[in-house]
Amino acid sequence: MITTQDAVTAAERCTPEYRRNPHAVYALLREAAPVCPMKPPHGNETYLITRYEDARAALSDPRLSKDMYGAMDAYRSIFGDSSVALDDNMLNSDPPKHTRLRKLVNSAFTPRRVEALRPQIQDIVESLLDECPTREPFDLLPAFAFPLPIIVICELLGVPAQERSRMQHLSTTVAQTGFSEESKRAQQKAEEDLHAYFTDLIAAKHSHPGDDLLSALTAVQDNDGGLTENELVSTAFLLMFAGHKTTAYLIGNAVHHLLSHPAQLRAVQENPELVGPAVEELVRYDGSVETSTFRYATEDVEYGGMRIPKGALVQVALSSANRDPQKFDAPDELDVMRPGNAQNAHLGFGHGSHYCLGAPLARLEMQLALTGLFGRFPRMTLADPAGEAKWMEVPFPAFRGLAELPVV
Ligand code: HEM
Repeated sequence: MITTQDAVTAAERCTPEYRRNPHAVYALLREAAPVCPMKPPHGNETYLITRYEDARAALSDPRLSKDMYGAMDAYRSIFGDSSVALDDNMLNSDPPKHTRLRKLVNSAFTPRRVEALRPQIQDIVESLLDECPTREPFDLLPAFAFPLPIIVICELLGVPAQERSRMQHLSTTVAQTGFSEESKRAQQKAEEDLHAYFTDLIAAKHSHPGDDLLSALTAVQDNDGGLTENELVSTAFLLMFAGHKTTAYLIGNAVHHLLSHPAQLRAVQENPELVGPAVEELVRYDGSVETSTFRYATEDVEYGGMRIPKGALVQVALSSANRDPQKFDAPDELDVMRPGNAQNAHLGFGHGSHYCLGAPLARLEMQLALTGLFGRFPRMTLADPAGEAKWMEVPFPAFRGLAELPVV
């Protein structure tokens, strides 16, 4: 039995106990400290919100700002100076800038464009599966879960095939949440490289447009004039970054949990139409975005009886909200036939005006990945079914994903 203080430390520092089972830590915090003051390694005064109703309200509370330019000191201390140029995008802004950018990107990132990717995604899934060993154990993360989203996002944006592995490397380096000088320097260099790369690519799309999202966005820029050069570069970066690790980790988490719950996997295999609801349930049960939902209070606000002072950072723990028993019956059970899955009440893709712009693409990728994988390898198992899963070691729990996923 852990104490509330142990739970706070576990969530601040992503301790081994936390990595093994964050849901036990959150269960305790939801009861004992639902709006919890923390001192994470980045050192800023931070409040962690763990209950569903508070989380949903906070995600759409205009007093909690996403405009990280307004919270510059706090933001710099977390992400370093150099991220500024690449963060000139919708995720880090409030209305009216957020409304403008989201509308412009929506006009190019249409449901039709996402649906048109279906045959390409299917081909990518099949060709990755062609390369997987069929007799000996292998790690599904580097073989399948990580390359799939990066290839898809590069196809979507119009990044040439020969640049994919460089993009994967650079966006992985940017995603590191290390606080050492060395790690910050590596992040800074990767950001500069990505900024230079997208600036050149966008110039090329201006002169030789293709049938890709980046070309469509340059057309929006040319015709509408409402998107600055730097906003366009930052938006390209955001789509690459937001669409890569989130989906990769989720594929890993989802496969791990399905293999650990054979009856649930069998239900999906026997009823292919269940794959959509199953993906929603898997996002709820153990999604990939955990507390990477930074906001800061523009005035004193009160949540769950706790005063959050002006200037403090707020993080919403999506994976905690998604296991709140006040909202979901038997929340710790994976149930692909859970009534209400189709209503997507979970917060795994966020809520409010910053609700994940790429959710339709993420859903399509997840469905095709799971259908393709378990169609090709119906008898796949964990390589060591009795062994303990190895979760990523990170300084604080922004994202949740496995460090490896050995299967056979
Ligand atoms: C925003 C989750 C995949 C693009 C968000 C947010 C969450 C999220 C929780 C809101 C963050 C906040 O409110 O602070 C996920 C998950 C994914 C996924 C779990 C995969 C399983 C993608 C993909 C793309 C994408 C594939 C694009 C290709 C975006 C963008 C935003 C966003 C552009 C910012 C929206 C805004 O600020 O208005 N995502 N995402 N995401 N996501 Fe995703």
